[in-house]
Amino acid sequence: MTMGGDAGHDLGGFIEASEADYYEQVVRRHFRGDGCIVDAGCFIGASTKALIRGLDACDPQHDAELPIIAIDRFTASDHYVVDFLAQMGADVRFGESFLPEFLRNLGQQALRVEIRAGDLVQVGRIERTIELAVIDLAKTPALNGFVLQRWVPQMVPGHSLIIQQDFYSPTQPWIAHSMAGLLDYVSLEHDKVGESAVFRLERPIPANVLREATLGWDRRDALPRLDRMIELLGTRVSAPLRLMRALAFHGLGHNAKARSLLEEELAQPTAPSDQKWEKWLSAAVVAVMPEAFEFNAVLGQLYWRHGAQRLGHA
Ligand SMILES: C[S@@+](CC[C@H](N)C(=O)[O-])C[C@H]1O[C@@H](n2cnc3c(N)ncnc32)[C@H](O)[C@@H]1O
Repeated sequence: MTMGGDAGHDLGGFIEASEADYYEQVVRRHFRGDGCIVDAGCFIGASTKALIRGLDACDPQHDAELPIIAIDRFTASDHYVVDFLAQMGADVRFGESFLPEFLRNLGQQALRVEIRAGDLVQVGRIERTIELAVIDLAKTPALNGFVLQRWVPQMVPGHSLIIQQDFYSPTQPWIAHSMAGLLDYVSLEHDKVGESAVFRLERPIPANVLREATLGWDRRDALPRLDRMIELLGTRVSAPLRLMRALAFHGLGHNAKARSLLEEELAQPTAPSDQKWEKWLSAAVVAVMPEAFEFNAVLGQLYWRHGAQRLGHA
């Protein structure tokens, strides 16, 4: 869908429509212009464009510097990224740059963005005040640790917001664990939009607390933290964190406990609203109770999901 030369092209992205709308609204309501917005892991710019739409609506009195800092490696280094680009018809091979796609997507709006192309640890030094950070690259505990330890000290207590885009993804449990470790200093601004959770910095966080929060997510003493976050979120939205909890027990060798927790989830009368719930739950079941799947059943599933379409049978 083309929006016209100056406005760029609408090339989509990984965030859900509800998240894009929320990002726009949050900038509109929240951004004062005395700091910047960081779009960390912007990919081809769906999140960036939503943030720009918010800026257009609030027209803040910002300083001479560009209001948005967009950070990404801008190289197709993950298979899901390569697949997405292939699906949209982009000629980008594994390891090549997708920065041209980002620029095409943004059009003239790219001039309003400080684009930082490189690995987070190479290009992520920020010395400005940060009013809003949208984090979509905390893909490892180390990257999450970098973001929280380097950027939270640049934030304004009582004002700045942290959007953790992968908060509900059970493959990245260190995010929920780290935010749980900061709950004496941050409040929950918005419990759930898509896979994101939104936190407000309430008071300055000592460096040792920030460091401690980002370590040890895979240790036994991590479980009470996860429990605290699950309690705060409540049953309606915490199902993915309950999967993280079951997987944590599994990782610690408590298989019977892990199984009983998963069985509780399987017995729920209604599925949570998460778009990826079935994928997450089935992956957890395969990990914790692989014997539940007969070889032929798995083969059949794979055939229907991947093979049939490729062979023209579906
Ligand atoms: C899920 S995508 C982000 C989706 C995007 N926010 C959107 O609106 O569609 C995650 C992005 O993080 C980037 N990324 C992952 N690890 C990174 C790192 N260490 N440094 C910089 N970028 C990284 C990837 O290149 C990818 O574009």
